[in-house]
Amino acid sequence: MSPADSPSADRIIGDILELHAHCGVLGQDALLPVLHAIQDRLGFIPPDAVEGLAHSFNLSRAEVHGVITFYHYFKTTPPARCTVQICRAEACQSMGGDALLSHASQALGCGLHEHSHDGGFALEPVYCLGYCATAPAIMINDAVHARVTPARFDTLVAKATANAGEVA
Ligand code: FES
Repeated sequence: MSPADSPSADRIIGDILELHAHCGVLGQDALLPVLHAIQDRLGFIPPDAVEGLAHSFNLSRAEVHGVITFYHYFKTTPPARCTVQICRAEACQSMGGDALLSHASQALGCGLHEHSHDGGFALEPVYCLGYCATAPAIMINDAVHARVTPARFDTLVAKATANAGEVA
């Protein structure tokens, strides 16, 4: 059973719906605030929640799904333990950013906006981390790393994996 299926996720969503209802009624204008609140609490919008949300807002499942997928901000899968952001802005691209992205995709087994197969890493683009003079730069969770070569990338990912294992 995934965290999304756990009773606690259902309860959290139920509490959020209750909080946004006025006199027990949920106006359709509350859908976006509710989706934001769910993602803030759970890290994503569980696909299993769509039917209940549709019922609560008197919308079709397709309408709720349409809103969730329209906004790239909303995630429908649990967040990865580590997020790797590769700078795609000009200075980093001119210093080997494309090759670094290609290496990262191969090393993690996923492309941009995807998760690695084990769900441990998310690979995302970022546009300038302010480290242009020491490009190419990446960010792993909250830590920025500059002058990242493919070999250094592997070392950083191995450290992040070890750290995530300690926390888990
Ligand atoms: S362009 Fe990559 S850090 Fe500025």
